This record gives sequence, C-alpha cells and structure tokens, in this order.
Amino acid sequence: MSKRATGTVLEVEINFSSDAPLHRQLYTAVKRAILDGRLRPGTRLPSTRIIAEDLRISRTTVLNAFDQLSAEGYLEGKIGSGTRVASYVPGDLAQQAQRTQLPSSHSKAKVSQRAHLHPNDNLSFLRTSARPLRPGQPEVSLFPLELWSRLAAKHWRRATRDPEHIDSLGYRPLRQAISDYIGRLRAVRCEPDQVLIVCGAQQALYLSAHTLLDPGESVWIEDPGYPRARAAFLSAGLKVIPVPVDSEGLVVSAGKKIDPSPRLVFVTPSFQCPLGSMMSLARRFELLGLARVSNTWILEDDYFSEYRYGGVPIASLQSIDQNERVIYIGNFSKSIAPLLRIGYLVLPAALIENFQYVRFTMSRQPPGVEQAILAEFINEGHLERFVRATLRTYRERREALVDAINSYAKGLLETSPSGTGMYLVAWLNPGVDDQAAARAAATHGVDVIPLSTFCMRPLGRKGLVLGYSAYEVNRIRVAVKQLCAALSRIQA
Ligand SMILES: Cc1ncc(COP(=O)(O)O)c(C=O)c1O
Repeated sequence: MSKRATGTVLEVEINFSSDAPLHRQLYTAVKRAILDGRLRPGTRLPSTRIIAEDLRISRTTVLNAFDQLSAEGYLEGKIGSGTRVASYVPGDLAQQAQRTQLPSSHSKAKVSQRAHLHPNDNLSFLRTSARPLRPGQPEVSLFPLELWSRLAAKHWRRATRDPEHIDSLGYRPLRQAISDYIGRLRAVRCEPDQVLIVCGAQQALYLSAHTLLDPGESVWIEDPGYPRARAAFLSAGLKVIPVPVDSEGLVVSAGKKIDPSPRLVFVTPSFQCPLGSMMSLARRFELLGLARVSNTWILEDDYFSEYRYGGVPIASLQSIDQNERVIYIGNFSKSIAPLLRIGYLVLPAALIENFQYVRFTMSRQPPGVEQAILAEFINEGHLERFVRATLRTYRERREALVDAINSYAKGLLETSPSGTGMYLVAWLNPGVDDQAAARAAATHGVDVIPLSTFCMRPLGRKGLVLGYSAYEVNRIRVAVKQLCAALSRIQA
C-alpha cells in the first residue's frame, strides 16, 4: 500500500497491490473527498502533472479519472489547466453526510406502516447451504442437467434470432403444457388462458391476497399451516383467522364457528402443510359448500401432490368445484428446484383480467427463455420421468428416516408419517420445547424446523419437521443419531 500527499488540498491513497484500476481508485478517492466535504466547492486542484508525479502514476491515469469526475459534474474548468471542484456541489455536504449517516441498525430507518405488516422473518437460513435434515429440498443431483443445458442453448439461440412474444399471462406454449399436465395428473379443468405464470407459489399468494381482498377482510388459514402464506396475507393487511386441522385436513366446522363467511380460505389439501394429512372428500365438499353460499374464494396450494408413495394420487379440489370458487396454485419448486422460480395460478375466468393487470404492476414474470425451456421439458415427458425417478429415491429415503427414528430415537421421537411429501413430522416428548430442540440439533450439525414455526396457537405437543428428500440414506442415519445426541442432552 502506498499513501501519498498531493499538495495541501488533495490527499489521496492509492493501493498499488489492489486489483482495482489506478484511475478508478483516484476517481473514487477524489469523489469521496468532495462528498465528505474535505474538498470544498470551488477548490482549485493541483495540475494533473503534479498529481501524477506525486502519486507516481501516469498522467493519462489522472486524466482518465478527472475526465470521469468532470463528466459526472464533480469538477469544472479545463482539465490540465485550472480544474476546480464544481461550485454547485453543496458546501454543507459533509454536515449532511454526518446527519444522514445510516443508523447502525436498519430497523431504525423510517419505513411505511405497510412494511411493518411483513413479518420480520429470519431469512438467514436461506444464506446457508442445506444440512440434513432441512426440509423441503429436492434432490437436484438427479436432475438431467445436460438435457436442460441443451434445451437452454436451443431456446437462447431461437430467442436471439426470433424473440418470441411473451404475453402478459406468460409464455403461451408453457401455459398449454401446464394445462395439459395438470389436466392429466391432477384432473384440473382449465384452458391455457386461465393459467397465469408467476415466480413461484409465494408470488401467487401475494398476488391473490392483493387482488382478491381489501385490508381488514378475513382469510382462514390452516393452523398449523404454511408460515409464508400467513406472511403474505398479513402483509396485505388481511385479518388472518387460524383454523385447526386434524387427520382429515382443515376442520371447516371449527372455522365457521370463528368466522362464518370468510372472503378467502387457504388450504393445502394434497399434503396439509406441515402435518401431511390429506383432506378428506367430506371436508372438501363441506369447504366447497361454504364457498358457494358465502361467496368465498378458495386458494388451493397443490404442492407435493406428485410425491405420493402409495395408492393413486387424489384429484385436486379444483377438479370437483362446480362454482368456479377455487384458485389453484402449482409450482416447480419441489418437482424441479426452488431456484427455477416458476409457478402458476389457474384462475376462474372471472378473475383473469384483474389478476393480469395487478401482476403487471406488481412485477413481470419469470424469464421468457426459462419458460420456453420448461415448456419443452414438460411436453417431451422429461418432467414426468424426473418426478418418477425422484419418487423412487424419496420413497427409499423416507423409509430410511422412519426406520432410523424407530431404531435410534426410541423414547425421544415418534412419527407416523403420511404417504405423501418430502418431509415428515416427528413428535417430541410432552414438555420438550421444539425451539430448544432445533437449536441443540443445529449445534450437532443437523438442521430441523420446529413445528411451532408453523403454528399460530400453541399445540398440545411439540414436534420437529424433518426433511429426507435431499439426503442420502447414510447421511439420514447419521443425522438421526446426531439429533438423538442433541435431544438426549436437552432432556437430561
Ligand atoms: C405449502 C407450500 N407451498 C409452496 C411452497 C413453495 O413456494 P415457492 O414456489 O414460492 O418456492 C412451499 C415451500 O416450502 C410450501 O411449503
């Protein structure tokens, strides 16, 4: 590092071992000095020759830096003979800089009341890479990357030659592919023009909350239920009503006692998030009946529906709705990977236009080329093949996790998982706190999610959500042993 004083007015530091170009370093240093108020408006700078000599850099380097500063308006006058700090740079910049220094904690910054409706989530886990048994992760190593790359190259070439028109609902061939796919596999009844492509289920939830309801209107959510759905509804200022669930899914009768005519009901009928029960047919009809008489919208999040380990998949709720009250949400975050960030809504005809323009303002849509790749991936049967392959692997891993719990965790954990999904719930002994258990597990190298994270009201018995889909059988066994060590410690 080399520090050089240049005359009495300009003192800058140039680091010769840095990768940053010298002209860029000089530009940044002079600009900072002006913004900090160390170089006052109108101050005459030494000549470029003197600066170059003092700093032992070439004159061209100084000229490059000064050119840029002049172009941005920080310097005025003729470069090389009498350059000055611009007179219109406010003289009290230094004081302003002190006054407006960012608070040490960002939470002190003044933001809207609306921003505070967004839950102050702990997002730090998203920055760390997944360790066993973090739930909800697909096995990406089985993904046909070569094939995807070939399709990507093809569609990028095509897009640059002949940019395809992506309409405001999304890329039409993808909408067609999705409507065929969910028609075949989930019995969803829809035309491609009812499919709106979005950036994952989260955007679908946010968009639905903002398009369908006004602040203060009520939405039922499952309790325990998907925390990010709750977050999306709270952020829209909605009144969130927790409704209990049991082995048949949402207890509709209990919901009616609390709030007989909600504007919206959010459900996960294929795999109740997180307990895993499937909504019984009786409950499905009860909910559709409520929707018909109360003009309630039902938001069906059909995640995990592909991952059913025994028996035939149960058709979607949308498929038995006779009154166009169900809005169906699907995504590829589990069946391909969360990083793809493509999901979709299937909308009743009456809602298409409103959703379309709200979304257009809120954000656009996932990248067009990714949509084109995915359309071909689905149409050529690759998605179904990939889901079949991962289903076999996940079944094996699920069995390994259940066996490991039954063999090593007797007296610490109990589980009776459903026949669907990518994770399961293991119950702790009565009185054991799941947050403490998760913290202890983390110190033993295992990531689990406390069941209470999903709850609005306390559950009688606490539990842990354990993922298996992304971890090899041996890693699952080791992780369960580590988890047992952690639990034994906190129960001792
Ligand atoms: C109930 C539920 N729906 C949807 C998703 C996925 O959302 P996204 O498509 O935004 O990744 C998850 C992810 O964990 C989930 O648990």
